[in-house]
Amino acid sequence: MKDPAHLAAIHASAFDTPWDAAAITALLDMPGAELEVAQNGFLLWRRAADEAEIVTLAVHPEARRQGTGGALLDQAVKNARDLGVVRLVLEVAHDNTAALTLYASRGFELAGKRPAYYARPDGARADALILALNLA
Ligand SMILES: CC(C)(COP(=O)(O)OP(=O)(O)OC[C@H]1O[C@@H](n2cnc3c(N)ncnc32)[C@H](O)[C@@H]1OP(=O)(O)O)[C@@H](O)C(=O)NCCC(=O)NCCS
Repeated sequence: MKDPAHLAAIHASAFDTPWDAAAITALLDMPGAELEVAQNGFLLWRRAADEAEIVTLAVHPEARRQGTGGALLDQAVKNARDLGVVRLVLEVAHDNTAALTLYASRGFELAGKRPAYYARPDGARADALILALNLA
């Protein structure tokens, strides 16, 4: 399940701008990189001192609303806390209802905004919201 090609296939099923296996491998090789995996999803996060960032969370469309995303997030939060992380942050598009609902259900709060951060395939721009969870 940790095969980069498998992770890249899940990523491609979940995002407009897919990362290939080489990109996933490079991310996994970054200092502080941590991976949570499930059969049809994964969550990649990265530690830096006592803070951490969720780099990506993806669940295959056919496997959604079955608890996978929530379980991956809960696993990352637990592992981050165990490793001494005090704050977990992430970026999410302002109109990504599924992700926003999931993160809100786990206590993430709005910490900032990056206007026109994401480029959509149709050329439109979307704001990124920065969410944070205090683990201290
Ligand atoms: C966001 C994502 C990871 C959720 O994965 P998932 O496995 O479907 O999530 P879960 O089944 O664990 O859902 C947990 C909760 O999140 C919320 N949620 C998930 N999908 C939702 C949707 N489409 N609409 C509204 N709420 C949703 C619900 O509160 C849900 O609980 P419930 O099913 O008991 O109502 C998945 O939709 C995905 O991969 N999306 C594309 C990639 C993406 O946007 N990643 C996040 C970028 S920051």
